[in-house]
Amino acid sequence: MDSLEQLVASAVQDFDAAKDDAAALENAKAKYLGKTGQITELMKGLGKLDPDAKKAQGALINAAKQQIEAALTARRDALAEAQLQARLNAEAIDVSLPGRGRAGGGIHPVMRTWERVEEIFRSIGFDVADGPEIETDWTNFTALNSPENHPARSMQDTFYIEGNDSQGKPLLLRTHTSPMQVRYARSHTPPIKVIAPGRTYRVDSDATHSPMFHQVEGLWIAENISFADLKGVYLNFVKAFFETDDLQVRFRPSYFPFTEPSAEIDIAFGSGPLKGRWLEVSGSGQVHPNVVRNFGLDPEKFIGFAFGSGLERLTMLRYGINDLRLFYEGDLRFLKQFN
Ligand code: DAH
Repeated sequence: MDSLEQLVASAVQDFDAAKDDAAALENAKAKYLGKTGQITELMKGLGKLDPDAKKAQGALINAAKQQIEAALTARRDALAEAQLQARLNAEAIDVSLPGRGRAGGGIHPVMRTWERVEEIFRSIGFDVADGPEIETDWTNFTALNSPENHPARSMQDTFYIEGNDSQGKPLLLRTHTSPMQVRYARSHTPPIKVIAPGRTYRVDSDATHSPMFHQVEGLWIAENISFADLKGVYLNFVKAFFETDDLQVRFRPSYFPFTEPSAEIDIAFGSGPLKGRWLEVSGSGQVHPNVVRNFGLDPEKFIGFAFGSGLERLTMLRYGINDLRLFYEGDLRFLKQFN
């Protein structure tokens, strides 16, 4: 009995002696509860006793064993707790300290282009308009003279969203900023002179296409706006945007349902790394009479041009970036270069 009490006391002492070293505690445990531990040995000795003595002595040993186990668990918990406290103290941060200087934020290169485009067109009298990214089938396609079987209307090309418009047609994420021509023209009276920059969406993803990208739409409608005006306005724009007069602009015949005639606008720099290469920057054209009619205007009276340019494309050309995905990876090493 006495020796059992002593055994428990000595175990508690040994456990207490194990400081912050978990191995020391495990060794101490082995000394009592291990295969050749003292408690284990006592248990083994029970076999020699007669049944009554075995029962009485066994109960006592078991009680001692439980005490030792409880002491072990308590010590384990205490050590773990002490360790946690030590770590918390070591890692403590003083939230009352002032910050170590503020990191300066910067403007994303595409947003910088967006701002520059607005500034340049404002300076020659264009209004700047903003419109919804969720569009109706009519504004995105039909009003723009886009035929029912146009491939952009397929589920594979366009992000349709749940829910229908008032005509029972599915709603979609606008595939271009051109619907803003319709929205703006229907809510303003000519002369109409506006740009509409914003986000656009297509099911497309590679080095030069992103499912979300930015365009800027331009529209000038009055009684006598011609292709010559488009040429003058766009040439002025690219010279201001690229900060050089040393570039050429070329209008290459093309097709868009909402313009007739239509042209792709290419530019070529007179110097720099891209010197002499024709680079496509925009779609454009004279607004189709059917579209002018959908503006709520008489195409016999009102005429003008429209264009749609990619903001990522303009940014890539200005800075010599060749992979559009860099814009959306959020890598500060890339983004910091523009600020
Ligand atoms: N919306 C066309 C596109 O996303 C671009 C475009 C072409 C816009 C000609 C125009 C235009 O306003 O006249 O591909």
